[in-house]
Amino acid sequence: MENIVETRLVSKIYHTGDLTVKAVDQANLEVRAGEFVALVGPSGSGKTTMLAMLAALLSPSEGQIVIAGQDLGKMKESQRVKFRREQIGFTFQANNLVPYLSVRENVELMLRLNNTHNKAGQQRAADILTRLGLGDRLDNLPNQLSGGQKQRVAIARALIHDPSLVLADEPTASLDTERAFQVVEIFADLIHEQNKAGIMVTHDLRMVRFVDKVIQMMDGRIVNVVTDPISIAALAGTSQFEPGIPVNGLEYQPVLFPQVAQPVTRPGAGD
Ligand SMILES: Nc1ncnc2c1ncn2[C@@H]1O[C@H](COP(=O)(O)OP(=O)(O)OP(=O)(O)O)[C@@H](O)[C@H]1O
Ligand SMILES: [Mg+2]
Repeated sequence: MENIVETRLVSKIYHTGDLTVKAVDQANLEVRAGEFVALVGPSGSGKTTMLAMLAALLSPSEGQIVIAGQDLGKMKESQRVKFRREQIGFTFQANNLVPYLSVRENVELMLRLNNTHNKAGQQRAADILTRLGLGDRLDNLPNQLSGGQKQRVAIARALIHDPSLVLADEPTASLDTERAFQVVEIFADLIHEQNKAGIMVTHDLRMVRFVDKVIQMMDGRIVNVVTDPISIAALAGTSQFEPGIPVNGLEYQPVLFPQVAQPVTRPGAGD
């Protein structure tokens, strides 16, 4: 099957004052069309930095990133902007809905940016929102929705323009367990049905039951890739606060310490 994401020895080094941080260290990563991947690892291990580079929001210090057959390093900035708008869907931890636009308008915004806002596009927006259980909320404003409903609008917005790659940075961070499971399950279904490559950063290992591959980062390095369904199921069975259990002889690191407040580091701000 076709690789949508291919990185070769990608590194990102941040320099702030005298401090140098190797946030991502020679990462090789592959994601195929129709494959849903969980990116896990302790706070500061480089997950958001990795996503930002895959989204062409941040340039690597070294290495090569090819998305949907296109080498990001060979693009001009204007091409990169267009590429991001057309090929990438992104949901952020804070779902970043526009507060004065309705549910429907928030999703259709991606079509307007791509000049594909027509009747068919509007119908697709309504369909995907209905699919996500929001058919009776199309004209509501974001502040009239629950946290889980907002996350689902963000997912619709990440998919509506038919991107090749969908990236989600902790899409369940603000949700209770039951809603988190619901949101990730629908997300997984849509990625599989629509043959997208999907990458979700999560601190909650229970969510990996819906993915095809788990990639674990530690200190910027990819230290473990799990694709065997039984091993993934075993990982998903470890609860958030238990140490990881060894899976198939792999000493799985207890990556899920209770999450302390996220450092407010915006990739790109200091590079
Ligand atoms: N703009 C920046 N300038 C300098 N250092 C940064 C910047 N962004 C991130 N870092 C550093 O790079 C490392 C990786 O950060 P990153 O945000 O990618 O981690 P993360 O795995 O997403 O962590 P978390 O789980 O807390 O979100 C950290 O040590 C962080 O402090
Ligand atoms: Mg992060």
